[in-house]
Parts: sequence; C-alpha cells; structure tokens
Amino acid sequence: MASNTVSYAVAPPSVGNMAVGFDVLGHALDAPGDQIRATRTDKSGVVMGAVSGRVTSLPNKPESNTAGAGVLELLASQNVDFGVRIDVHKGVALGSGMGGSASSAVASVVAVNALLPQPLAPIELMPHALAGEQVASGCIHGDNVAPCLLGGIVFVPPAHPERCVEVPVPDGLNCVLIRPEFRLDTSAGRSILNEKVNLNDVVTQMSHFGHLLCACFSNDIDALEGAFSDVLVEPQRCQQVRGFAEIKTAALTAGALGFSLSGSGPSMVAWVRAQDVQSVESEMRRKVEQFYGDQYQYVTSMVNAPGARLIQSKEWLGD
Ligand code: HSE
Repeated sequence: MASNTVSYAVAPPSVGNMAVGFDVLGHALDAPGDQIRATRTDKSGVVMGAVSGRVTSLPNKPESNTAGAGVLELLASQNVDFGVRIDVHKGVALGSGMGGSASSAVASVVAVNALLPQPLAPIELMPHALAGEQVASGCIHGDNVAPCLLGGIVFVPPAHPERCVEVPVPDGLNCVLIRPEFRLDTSAGRSILNEKVNLNDVVTQMSHFGHLLCACFSNDIDALEGAFSDVLVEPQRCQQVRGFAEIKTAALTAGALGFSLSGSGPSMVAWVRAQDVQSVESEMRRKVEQFYGDQYQYVTSMVNAPGARLIQSKEWLGD
C-alpha cells in the first residue's frame, strides 16, 4: 500500500541539442518549470485533471497528453492497484524550444513515482518520461528529458537512453536564452529537416561535438570557443526565426562563447562565461527588441542547473 496519497513535483525547462549534439545532448535551465500534482485514486487508470499556467487546456486523454502517457506506462510497469489524477501547472510555454513537453512528462512521472510503494531511482524513470515526451515530438530523443530529469548537461544516445552520461559542466558556464513569443512545434521543426547531409559537414560537426565534450571533461571553459557552431541543423532551421542572424552576431560580438537555437526554436541561446552574462544579455535584448518589441521572454541561467524534484504543497502554483 502506498503511503502518500498526493504528491507534487516540478521539472525545469531545458536546452535541447546544445548546438552541436542534435538529439543527443542537452542541459537544464534554472527557470520556472512545469508543476504536477498527482493524486491517488481508488479506480485504476489515469485521469487528466486541471490545467493552469501558461496554457489552460491540454488533451483530455492521458495517452495523448505528455503528462499522462508516461504515467500510464509507469503504473502498468509497477502493477499497482490504484490510479492517479494528474493536475498540470504549465510554467514552460508550448512550442517554445525550452523543452516544455519534457518538463511535463518528467514532472508527472516524478510526482507519481512518489506514490508508488517502492519508488524507482530517477534514472529508472527515464523510459517512462520519454514515452510521455514522444506524444509531442513524434519520436524518441532524450536531449530534453534527460537533463530535465537529472540536471546539468546530459549526453543521451537515442537507441540506449539508459546509457546516458551526466557530463561535467565547466566552472562558470552560464547561458542567456531569449524566446520570441510565437509557437514553433518540435514536430514541425523536424519535418523541414533534410535527412541527407554533406559528409564534410558531418566531420566538422563531429569535431565541434568532440571539442565540446573534451572541454567539459577537462573543465576548460575557454576551449568551448567555436565548439557551439552547428553546421548541420541550425542552417536548415534558423530561417524560421526572424532576426536569428542579427541576434547571433550581437551575442557573439558581446563575448558569447557560442550561440544557437534552443531545441528546434524559436528560443535562441548564448553560452557565456559568468563575467559576460550581463553584457551578452543586454546586447541580445537590444537586438531582439528591434525585431519583436517586448514580445519575448528571457532567462539567464547557470548551465549546471538542477533537475526535477518533489516539492511541498505550499509551492504548488496551480488552482
Ligand atoms: N532534438 C530535438 C530537435 C529537440 O531538435 O528536434 C527539440 O526540442
């Protein structure tokens, strides 16, 4: 018999791809995430309850809802004799490139896990959270789910997400993220991608990806310069975000180590040394305002941001 009847969790937004790690690398953001309240019910199954925050309605059927699908799988795998009601408070905008689907999917399995007679370890929740996120993106890639669950930077091979690796974050690595307020769904951002790529570009991308990982494992923030240059995916997607080239130039000129789309956009992210956060943020905002006025959100965060966690009822922002 489970001891808890209600539990609450929050999971952070995240940056998918981390520029050069398409579908395999991402990091958490220290910013408001999605909250879930899970309430145990006598009747088995999952019922989607109230929705609040940045959206006010989500699919009613749990199998079509990122916060419900993973929980269905989690409960089935644990053979429990109860069900749950899931209430969602969205802190991450939909179609933002900030890993909103992952945030809901992760927070819901973390909350429901706390209702289980024998809760699983965080890493064991990964397949269930991925099943939830798959509802939104249409395929399995853990570059948002893994850092959202575990925090920091995570490398996650799509075929073996259980073999993900928590990558050390170089001291002082921060980021500045700007989200123009329009929606760009991941599935649409994926549908425009050309699956055939140039071999020379693959070699360049692998070189940047290798540099990025080596810089992380040797705690050498200076070695990150140039490593965030995505020659494979960014050129195909950046036309979808007005002002991308100008905002990128502004960030790099102000001292950013690198700049790219966050996930499939429209959010854009600059990676910066701690001492450059303020100047990069102000230059990026100045440029963004030329294109979007005040219709944007911005976040500054350490890259070594915490992952999902259980919260107290008094921290719940819904209702
Ligand atoms: N890796 C995914 C993509 C992340 O770029 O499509 C989406 O947030």
